[in-house]
Amino acid sequence: MKNEQSHRIPTTDDIEVSTYLGIAKELHGEQATPEPKPLPPKERETIIVIDFGSQYSMLIARRIRECHVYCELVPWDTPWEKIAPLNPRGLVLSGGPASVYNRDAPLALPYIYDKHLPVMGICYGMQVITHQLGGQISRGEKHEYGHAILYLNTEDCPLFASLPTSFPVWMSHGDQTLDTPPNFKTLAYTDNSPVAVMGNDEGIFGLQFHPEVIHTPAGKTIFQNFVYKVCGCQGNWTTTNFITESIEKIKKQVGEGKAICALSGGVDSAVTATLVHRAIGNNLTCIFINNGLLRREEPERVLNTFLRNLKMNVSYVDGSERFLERLKGVTDPEVKRHMIGEEFIKVFEEEAAKLGKVNFLAQGTLYPDVIESSSASETKASATIKTHHNVGGLPARMKLSLIEPLRYLFKDEVREVGLALGLPEDMTWRQPFPGPGLAIRIIGEVTRERLEILRAADWIVMNEIKKAKLYRQLWQSFAVLTGIKSVGVTGDYRSYAYTIAIRAINSNDAMTAEWAHLPYDLLARISDRIVNEVPNVNRVVYDITSKPPATIEWE
Ligand code: XMP
Repeated sequence: MKNEQSHRIPTTDDIEVSTYLGIAKELHGEQATPEPKPLPPKERETIIVIDFGSQYSMLIARRIRECHVYCELVPWDTPWEKIAPLNPRGLVLSGGPASVYNRDAPLALPYIYDKHLPVMGICYGMQVITHQLGGQISRGEKHEYGHAILYLNTEDCPLFASLPTSFPVWMSHGDQTLDTPPNFKTLAYTDNSPVAVMGNDEGIFGLQFHPEVIHTPAGKTIFQNFVYKVCGCQGNWTTTNFITESIEKIKKQVGEGKAICALSGGVDSAVTATLVHRAIGNNLTCIFINNGLLRREEPERVLNTFLRNLKMNVSYVDGSERFLERLKGVTDPEVKRHMIGEEFIKVFEEEAAKLGKVNFLAQGTLYPDVIESSSASETKASATIKTHHNVGGLPARMKLSLIEPLRYLFKDEVREVGLALGLPEDMTWRQPFPGPGLAIRIIGEVTRERLEILRAADWIVMNEIKKAKLYRQLWQSFAVLTGIKSVGVTGDYRSYAYTIAIRAINSNDAMTAEWAHLPYDLLARISDRIVNEVPNVNRVVYDITSKPPATIEWE
């Protein structure tokens, strides 16, 4: 079980080289080289979210970035020295699972109050402020979960500018503030929370409800008011600024050096490569390895975009034969993953060696991966921590420094950047596709024949889902070649052929997923087409299991 979890890569959807390098590092027991931490330019204004472990912390950061203000999430015990260089304009204290009365409860470090920056404490964050500044907390006697109506006590609080005097909010708490600290006023209340919002004249606010969730429709305005009216931000976090800044930063970092980047067809590596190419031109070589486990027309699409349209240096390796050779007779999912990972590293290193001296490796690590790595190692506030291998898995022997232009971006921001860079929509909006590709969607041995069957079925699923305009809405939708053969009747003849399973799920982060309630007529069309158009398939089933207890992929 432990092993199985460890090679499932939950957030980044590409065959990121980091995935394989991570696996390779495990196999060879090598140390990762330290990564350069890119410093944001001085003029960039930042709101810092101090993370006390709430499941919504990342959402807070996204909401603030939606206001065009750069935001970083840091573990609650991050020292001021790490925060100061980010040019902080305000602090948000997140919610969290603890109670301020717990032994070892995470609390705000002194700088939160000493630096005279605006502060907005949300839920547990508010309780921390109450507790530390001398107010009173009730100890979880009354749990409140769900919708509530917030009534404002004042009309001139900047946080509530242009909002009505009462509006719906979302509550989720045990403890709550009963009495404000000295010099704080109660700014709003609900039926169950006498102090639902409090604030003082220095710009320190506490909100008992969650403005970051969609169930608080006024949340967006509250964040806008906080960043613009309370913190005085300008709002310079835009796609265009990001692109300009990143290109400058990459130019400085790489100089006259040479870089490589592994392409997968997914949005993360595509955007990374395009940014690096804009910065250093032909000093970047992309390596695109066809492992023979890609979907129909995928290799052609990738080559078309990067080689023909964007005119990048692409070294294309058709490794289908070698990968299939390695996978002969292999049925165990984890062994499949290891072999594909190992082979990928070998091919990658062989290709890189042909390029002479290379100094940099560009890869598409995203912010959620970075946050998870740092919270796993630096803070224990979060109730659930998952393991993954997307960050910092560079084998030391490759002696390459990392370029990670997306290190501070969320997935939706990466897509926006991709579109702004002119990448095709089918690349920027591609659903996640696992590194080991179709190999983990074929139960049992991977053979050429089975791959062809699955490719044909997968093509139909994708085609129909796109025609139904559901492709972007679904987190993933695909076909699985179950190892099962069953009896059917085709024309007047008995058949004994494969069963294809359809999987379509909704999810926000792949950690949990709901099976999608696809319309019956769509399922019927997919099924009809598969049994009619794909040879050696006589049965189609729909997977109606959510995650947990199932996983998204069948292997
Ligand atoms: P599971 O199947 O664990 O999948 O629910 C969660 C997400 O991760 C993807 N996935 C992988 N991605 N290498 C990858 O790069 C893998 O070995 C792997 N296994 C699963 C899966 O497609 C889903 O998005």
